[in-house]
Amino acid sequence: MKLVDTHCHIYGDSYKEDLEEVMKRAEENLDFIVNIGYDLWSSREAVRLANEYDFAYATVGVHPTEIKEYSKEIEKEIENLCKDKKVLAIGEIGLDYYWMNDPKEIQQNIFRKQMELAKRVNKPVVIHTRDAMEDTINILNEYKDVEGILHCYPGSFETAKLVMDRYYFGVGGVLTFKNNAKTKEFVKKAPLDRLIIETDSPYLTPVPFRGKRNEPIYVEHVAKEIAIIKEISLEEVIEVTTNNAKKIYRIGE
Ligand code: NI
Repeated sequence: MKLVDTHCHIYGDSYKEDLEEVMKRAEENLDFIVNIGYDLWSSREAVRLANEYDFAYATVGVHPTEIKEYSKEIEKEIENLCKDKKVLAIGEIGLDYYWMNDPKEIQQNIFRKQMELAKRVNKPVVIHTRDAMEDTINILNEYKDVEGILHCYPGSFETAKLVMDRYYFGVGGVLTFKNNAKTKEFVKKAPLDRLIIETDSPYLTPVPFRGKRNEPIYVEHVAKEIAIIKEISLEEVIEVTTNNAKKIYRIGE
């Protein structure tokens, strides 16, 4: 069995020199990748690439730092993209109180609009949350019939339990960083059948490539770290997390 990159951003300037090689390496080594949109442009790029490569899928949505562009028209465009069968989810959406490009109330309002959209098109959501855990969990719990992924999950196991009935938790390169006790503790406590693996390429490159551009095949380094922390085999990590990814993204149904 092969790993999955459940969250990457393979488009734009970071890959303009060698996109084909990056995709080829991913195709050879991984089961599939999910290219995540953060605004209308990147959502379209993700869908375009998903239609070029069998093993690539897309999500569409507007990231909380990019909601200045959000409007009824944009929402309609995003909803139209959902008709493409390679579009798996709405995301990444959520709250970001670190950058705070827009006031909390506006972020929450647009987060709810996109949760409604996910409900309407019957797709899971990919959630970004930064310095906003409590409000994020509260809003997720307003939508008990929507399931999804908390990507690059930054919270505690106690908090995760509040939505663990229908959310999976994305673990990426930060797990391999030496000073990241919080994520290591979360991975130790969380059941493997709720974890999925991601890179967030081109960002958050794992050790031993930290500081360089990230790419999907580096999920391997995250998987190895999970195996060490949970004291289980790499094979078990691969099998369970790949099945988790297929379940939440509804692949092969
Ligand atoms: Ni991302």
